[in-house]
Amino acid sequence: MSVNLSVTLAGIKLKNPVMPASGTFGAGREFSEFFDVGRLGAIVAKTVTLKPREGNMPPRICETTSGMLNSIGLQNEGLEYFLKHDLPYMRKFKIPIIVNIAGNTLEEYAQICRDLKGIEGVSAIELNISCPNIKAGGIAFGASSRLAEQVTAAARYNTDLPLIVKLTPNVYNISKIARAVVSAGADAVSLINTLVGMSIDINTFKPQLANYTGGLSGPAIKPVAVRMVWEVAQTVNVPIIGIGGIMTAEDAIEFFLAGATAVAIGTANFINPTAMIDIINGIERFLSERGLTDIRQLVGKVRL
Ligand SMILES: Cc1cc2nc3c(=O)[nH]c(=O)nc-3n(C[C@H](O)[C@H](O)[C@H](O)COP(=O)(O)O)c2cc1C
Repeated sequence: MSVNLSVTLAGIKLKNPVMPASGTFGAGREFSEFFDVGRLGAIVAKTVTLKPREGNMPPRICETTSGMLNSIGLQNEGLEYFLKHDLPYMRKFKIPIIVNIAGNTLEEYAQICRDLKGIEGVSAIELNISCPNIKAGGIAFGASSRLAEQVTAAARYNTDLPLIVKLTPNVYNISKIARAVVSAGADAVSLINTLVGMSIDINTFKPQLANYTGGLSGPAIKPVAVRMVWEVAQTVNVPIIGIGGIMTAEDAIEFFLAGATAVAIGTANFINPTAMIDIINGIERFLSERGLTDIRQLVGKVRL
């Protein structure tokens, strides 16, 4: 029996609902040695900022129980380099490209949106208002519903592209933030970014990360992410990209049942470079084994 995995997300048609989570796939160069990147539903690029950023001091990654902490700090070569070198490379795969952006100020978010106008191959913009590892911008926008609304409105005013807003879990009420960004014009939301954490080396008494704290990702955060997707799905009427600790197709299916239309895979890519392909195949198998013909038969179907 053939199974339909295609979904529509913020007006973009994806042949399947699986994509990389921003920052864990670069532009796909390394992964193209392991599999045909064109098999993914979409590419989500690493966060790009207006000007190049060096990121934080090393060490910036450490392993924890069932997860990892990172404090990369949005290292990237800046928008000009991205448009010249990374975007043309990603276009080769002929799948939708979601460009993830961050700024220190509202005006920087607005400027990047303007600079992406009319650029071939950009299917959507994802606003990163949830990075916990930078001093200005990032989470400072995503943790306040008023600022989250303002940054979304500024981006909305400056782009006609589909707008996805990536939410932080480091808040008490994520539904309130989701409502704010949707009211300001977000076409979809993605969640979750990493949870702020800390790890200490008991031999040196020093934090494992030079930045002291970092963002926790991987299997440890999956139940938090599933709960948040479920809450947000009941609050807003836009598609959700579920993210957080997805390692297998079974993990992804939990997110669909909670209300996600698509999923993004992060930490799993570092452990198994073909994780996303295994997940696509596994979702297809799960559906056909149950006589289901369409991925949409799972979305939001948790039985309460
Ligand atoms: C090493 C690393 C770098 C990341 N860089 C970014 C980034 O540049 N932009 C962003 O929006 N999220 C970034 N994230 C967050 C992921 O996109 C994702 O939201 C998070 O890791 C949770 O998913 P996971 O548990 O599947 O990794 C990064 C995560 C990791 C582990």
